[in-house]
Amino acid sequence: MNTKHLIDLNDCSKEEWEDIINLAVNISDAPERYAETCKGKILATLFYEPSTRTQMSFQTAMLKLGGNVIGFDNPLNSSVSKGETLADTTKIVSGYADILAIRHPVEGASLVSAQYSNCPIINAGDGGHLHPTQTLTDLVTMKKEIGHIDNLTVGFCGDLKYGRTVHSLIKALCHYQNIKFILISTPELTLPDYFKEYIVQNNCAFQDVLSLEEAICELDVLYMTRIQKERFASEALYNEQKNVYILDNKKLEHAKSSLKILHPLPRVDEIAAEVDEDDRATYFKQAKYGVFARMALISTLLGQTHEKYQLKGTSSEKACSNSRCITNQENGIRKSFYQIGEKSYCEYCDAECK
Ligand code: CP
Repeated sequence: MNTKHLIDLNDCSKEEWEDIINLAVNISDAPERYAETCKGKILATLFYEPSTRTQMSFQTAMLKLGGNVIGFDNPLNSSVSKGETLADTTKIVSGYADILAIRHPVEGASLVSAQYSNCPIINAGDGGHLHPTQTLTDLVTMKKEIGHIDNLTVGFCGDLKYGRTVHSLIKALCHYQNIKFILISTPELTLPDYFKEYIVQNNCAFQDVLSLEEAICELDVLYMTRIQKERFASEALYNEQKNVYILDNKKLEHAKSSLKILHPLPRVDEIAAEVDEDDRATYFKQAKYGVFARMALISTLLGQTHEKYQLKGTSSEKACSNSRCITNQENGIRKSFYQIGEKSYCEYCDAECK
């Protein structure tokens, strides 16, 4: 793999991430064969935001590979609470560990870490931006449960605006053959324009629909998502959006028998508990595949020489338009923008900057 960090899956070629998926599938068939792959190595998990699956599956993955784990899951218990910057925290911890997985509420945070780290950085979720290791997990799930990733109609339902798992998975699926996206959301939580443009640029088709009922019969995969309460400006705005989409057995009567229901989890109430008993419910298996995806990723990244991340865009003093971008939250970060046609985008969070 040419990429030394995993910030955005699209930093790698499709062949490179397919190698990781295939390795994950092999590991899932015989995990004991990989029990000493990372012997003597240390993973640091720096979680500035709550997590169950991502943090624990990273830790489990490293332990199953024969390595060890350090880190924090509450920055208030670390020197972050004394004002230590992300850059300094990264420099210090990358002197203790061989690989770092970072989750942060601010978009672009892991890209900052990758510029200062002495070891590989894995983006374990940056605000409402991206979650590439969830995408690896989702692709491993499709490979194991469907057998292929091409020729699928995939419905994404719920919070497509703030759902970083949705953004990462759509970007990856655009590189497969004959994928049709059905985007099921309210107008307020529709997929950001940047990602819709990405779909169009990659010659894939998408359709916006308002109700689950009008789309469900067409789907091969239904990717349900939680409304991301923590990203809303106010509780009132969240309350307007919650409970709009609830998958239950009645709605599933109209779905294909081969449908796979995915969800990155945690769920709140968007999938009724009765659906768990349906053979099409795949979300708990999906969470288990996350361990194998992360075992494959850790062993791949540790198997290559390290280089600090070099920004690819053009340096500029202009500000990113996204208030949730790390460049607007921490001092001393070199801003960088890239062009697509006439438009300029922030390299950290992909927001269009006018
Ligand atoms: N899917 C996911 O990221 O779950 P956690 O927030 O529990 O890590």
